[in-house]
Amino acid sequence: MTTTVSKDDISRAVVQLKAGELVAFPTETVYGLGADASNADAVQKIYAAKGRPSNHPLIVHVADAAQLANWACNIPPFAHTLAKKFWPGPLTLVLKRNPKVHDAVTGGQDTVAIRVPSHPVAQALLREFGSGVAAPSANRFGRVSATTAAHVREEFGKVVACVLDGGAADVGIESTIVDCSGKAPTLLRPGWITPQQLEAALGSALAAPDADAPRVSGTLEKHYSPQTPVLLMEGDLIVGLAHSMARQGKRVAVLARTALRPLIEGMVWLAAPVDAAGYAHDLYANLRELDQAGCDAILVEQAPELAEWFAIRDRLGRAAAGSGVVA
Ligand code: TXA
Ligand code: MG
Repeated sequence: MTTTVSKDDISRAVVQLKAGELVAFPTETVYGLGADASNADAVQKIYAAKGRPSNHPLIVHVADAAQLANWACNIPPFAHTLAKKFWPGPLTLVLKRNPKVHDAVTGGQDTVAIRVPSHPVAQALLREFGSGVAAPSANRFGRVSATTAAHVREEFGKVVACVLDGGAADVGIESTIVDCSGKAPTLLRPGWITPQQLEAALGSALAAPDADAPRVSGTLEKHYSPQTPVLLMEGDLIVGLAHSMARQGKRVAVLARTALRPLIEGMVWLAAPVDAAGYAHDLYANLRELDQAGCDAILVEQAPELAEWFAIRDRLGRAAAGSGVVA
């Protein structure tokens, strides 16, 4: 990880947060667009910048689990178990909210989402700030998350003056979200921490989500999407489809796990890493790059049906929602 963030940069960012301004910062999953979680006006600026409906709740980021009680209440033992095992790290817990938490953060729900990120820049920022930072992923609503400071600037330009550059995010996809506000823990959003890892830590199975489960905007079917239509398919279908689209005068971009590409004029082909960690790390940067190629479609090779690819399959499915799955 490369970071150019100095102690002074952190202090300046803390001054901005305290003044009610937005600060974009790196986490180990994706970049966040942060505001002082205890300042409702500051939090409103996040919704305005993202173009996100204000009933979509935000994650409160804190430096350590000791701050949980400031934001949540009635914390069940299984939530403590998960916090102990996976924090700091790419896990978000949904808990009953402390009544003091603003509706602007919770979207008016009776729960609050909390995460302790492990990225050293996020840790330094949260420690010096000393309180909670509400932050969604630093992208405009419905678009691909940002995994570098350059992506954040692409998304927001001058609207966000303060962007801490902590290098490319390690994990590359958003945190695993577990609802711990009910009787049993429930997976709300898959992430790098797999259900199997959660169940091993809990010593019991996760509950299946029911109709009362809290809303998660990342689970809107279409999300994390490039502007170019994304078509998701098994690898062996890609070459045939690329040829037939080329015959119709269409330019295609391809994201596959092999560099073995056919010779098609104007085609853009990105060979993604073959391991899940590498694939996740590069995923959003790859989708952004292919989106910018100005092609008629992005053909994406489906990820393997294995536990460590579970969250990647989820994100690919959402990127393709509305365009199509080719079977
Ligand atoms: O990795 C991540 O989680 C990144 C980094 C910046 O921490 N953040 C992130 O935030 O992905 P965002 O806002 O893009 O996605 C957070 C998800 C949303 O789908 C939101 O609906 C859900 O968390 N969420 C937040 N508060 C919730 C709550 N009280 N109950 C249920 N879902 C909640
Ligand atoms: Mg997001």
